[in-house]
Amino acid sequence: MRDAIAAPVRRPVHLVSSRDLDRTTIDDLLRRARRMAAHPEEAGRRLEGKILASLFYEPSTRTRFSFESAMLRLGGHVLAAADAPRESSVAKGETIEDTVRVIDAYADIIVLRHPEQGAAQRAAGASSVPLINAGDGAGEHPTQALLDLFTIQQELGRADHLRIGFAGDLRHGRTVRSLASLLAHFDGTELVLIAPPELQLQEDVRDVLRQAGVALRDEPDLGRAIDDLDVLYQTRVQRERFPSAEAYERVRGIAVVDPAIMRRLPARAILMHPLPRVDEIVTAVDADPRAAYFRQARNGLPVRMAILDWMLGPA
Ligand code: NCD
Repeated sequence: MRDAIAAPVRRPVHLVSSRDLDRTTIDDLLRRARRMAAHPEEAGRRLEGKILASLFYEPSTRTRFSFESAMLRLGGHVLAAADAPRESSVAKGETIEDTVRVIDAYADIIVLRHPEQGAAQRAAGASSVPLINAGDGAGEHPTQALLDLFTIQQELGRADHLRIGFAGDLRHGRTVRSLASLLAHFDGTELVLIAPPELQLQEDVRDVLRQAGVALRDEPDLGRAIDDLDVLYQTRVQRERFPSAEAYERVRGIAVVDPAIMRRLPARAILMHPLPRVDEIVTAVDADPRAAYFRQARNGLPVRMAILDWMLGPA
């Protein structure tokens, strides 16, 4: 493995935003993830003796379990607060900066999920060990974006010259925000932003995309957007980010993927979703070979193994 994985392109201190990653680094990480997927048996001692602290202030299934599994499969150990607001001193009013300042003495790397946008950046500033953002409110989720990109390459054989439709809650969906920034590094990316105005992608990400020359099209109607897509990336309306139940009810169920929509999605295309899905993809779609979301979730393991190894492993 030491020979197979070349020296890191740029070993990061923290991984807070997709915007921290350049194209060379992205390619290197994807290559490492392919290696992890193909030869998991080579990975078992890469992080022997290292400790990961997983600190989750918001619910998680895939992200937390796959990070913890990745660390264990690399030979490391895990300390976990799966419900940090109850299980840690946050319940006593401690700030995230103080919590991280203490935990960094007990672990070699911290994986943090937090409901506030910007919390990961603040926590990274206080941490003396590498910190990975596993979702900060409606901000970013860079490791999900990397596994999404890995999935696109695995499924379609490339990540350039693709027309990708993002549907659902593009305003609060941190996975879309992070993935869009990664896709800006690839040639010929075209994005179709399928959402009503109140759920549309925010200007900060649009600026990144425009500067990179990405073609953007706003299309509120899912039915009108899908005929020529390579990827339909559906997302959950992020109920927990709405100011009131009424505001959420006004937009829930706005775009549902069902067999009728799938009939119009090209045969070459794939349907992705970061999961959890609520009712925005009906279960009748799951058996369609183009439904890639459970394969996508599985890719979380090799991609997070690659990320941990890249940040913490032997050069
Ligand atoms: C996403 C998240 O937490 O942002 N889930 C995930 O990490 N796979 C998407 C979501 O919660 O809707």
